[in-house]
Amino acid sequence: MGIESLSAEAAVPDLPVLSALLADAVESGASIGFLPPLAPGEADAYWRTVVAALREDTRVLLVARDAAGAVVGSAQLELAVRPNARHRAEVAKVMVHTQARRQGIGRALMRAVEAEARRRGRTTLVLDTRRGDHAERLYAGVGWTLAGVIPKYARSADGRVDPSAFYYKLLEGTSHDSG
Ligand SMILES: CC(C)(COP(=O)(O)OP(=O)(O)OC[C@H]1O[C@@H](n2cnc3c(N)ncnc32)[C@H](O)[C@@H]1OP(=O)(O)O)[C@@H](O)C(=O)NCCC(=O)NCCS
Repeated sequence: MGIESLSAEAAVPDLPVLSALLADAVESGASIGFLPPLAPGEADAYWRTVVAALREDTRVLLVARDAAGAVVGSAQLELAVRPNARHRAEVAKVMVHTQARRQGIGRALMRAVEAEARRRGRTTLVLDTRRGDHAERLYAGVGWTLAGVIPKYARSADGRVDPSAFYYKLLEGTSHDSG
């Protein structure tokens, strides 16, 4: 398994597999911004917005590939653009194909996304996930801190509006924190 950061140009040929990865996650019940069933073209339209953000250099897209080169997971880093937030980034859409879970790929993606953030000077990282999901164990396991829980945050497929847990991680080497 290997992890690589894709440029906009490199991501385009992978759009169909990225759409399939997103559909797999949504159909498995993941709280990842979309609700099942995805409309035709909905996943493709989403990934095109990611490619646009890659072109603007406001996003980092990492993909995990298996030994045969197939995409088995991905994660993104949304780079804050405001003048007072350029040390900050949000980790988003961490997903591993249902056939490839529990093999350490999610953990490897988190490590890689943190390394990429550090390389870009993004030392305050944030993310959120549905309260109680397995993802929480993944994040806590790689050193993220729970900041708090907001009730009624994101709708799930069954119509409930579930709480979300907000996590942060301050990467070492931060030189500009003032408390
Ligand atoms: C969350 C997700 C990315 C984890 O990917 P993964 O490759 O299976 O994770 P890993 O194998 O690296 O697991 C890392 C740790 O997370 C926890 N974990 C992950 N899946 C778990 C499960 N099904 N049950 C219990 N713990 C689990 C464990 O602590 C695990 O460590 P361990 O295997 O040493 O016990 C994956 O389940 C997924 O894609 N879920 C759907 C999308 C999603 O919810 N993303 C997060 C919100 S954006």
